[in-house]
Amino acid sequence: MIKIIQTKDYAELSRKAANIIAAQVILNSRSVLGLATGSSPLGLYAELIKMYQAGDLDFSKIRTVNLDEYRGLTSDNDQSYAYFMRENLFNHINIDLDNTNVPDGTEPDAEKECARYDAVIDSMGGVDIQLLGIGLTGHIGFNEPAEVFSKGTNCVDLDPKTIQSNARFFASIDDVPKQAYTMGIQSIMKAKKILLIANGEGKADILYRACCGPITPKVPASILQLHPDVIVVADEPALRVIREKCPSSLG
Ligand code: GLP
Repeated sequence: MIKIIQTKDYAELSRKAANIIAAQVILNSRSVLGLATGSSPLGLYAELIKMYQAGDLDFSKIRTVNLDEYRGLTSDNDQSYAYFMRENLFNHINIDLDNTNVPDGTEPDAEKECARYDAVIDSMGGVDIQLLGIGLTGHIGFNEPAEVFSKGTNCVDLDPKTIQSNARFFASIDDVPKQAYTMGIQSIMKAKKILLIANGEGKADILYRACCGPITPKVPASILQLHPDVIVVADEPALRVIREKCPSSLG
């Protein structure tokens, strides 16, 4: 079931989504958080840092597992997701870096890295809350449109639309890695609770297809309709098409 929380803008989205993660951390100081990268969670992470600095959150026993990593980038490359997480969250809170996990983009043996990461996820005993953004292709993590839904961690060829969209973070489009390691759809679906955030008009069509369209691996995020506990926090522009075509889902 998808519960949609509407916010007027990105700032409100970030505060509300951060409060949902914060509640999880407060209720269970040993929670396993599934974390995401991209531009969408930047405000949410900044809010969590503020709550930590105010003395309201303790991450000392929290464990994290990230969705994905570009294949080929080292963790000190400033475009890697490992770097992103340190820069935008981990370095600013009292989390033990040994309790944080991101796929190893430098492992050339895809089969080995996917098996290792699946074992990491299993060893955590289940993700309490999984944060997701949504790509323009409908990808979650880096699970691109495909013929079937992926299961465990897999090595994906990035969709040309994703490469184009993510080029804004790199010096040139040629610098964008063409592959990534990503947690699989089945692993994402095993999380007890899922929090998807989306902002801006650019996400309006894909968010509608994910929340209200047919459930198909051509729109990987559409599988979330089958999860028992999904919260979507989205701003007004991102909800434009949902408001027009299936307003009943807004409650
Ligand atoms: C990236 C990430 C996704 C993210 C998505 C949206 O490529 N792999 O996890 O949700 O694309 O990115 P953004 O939040 O910048 O729109």
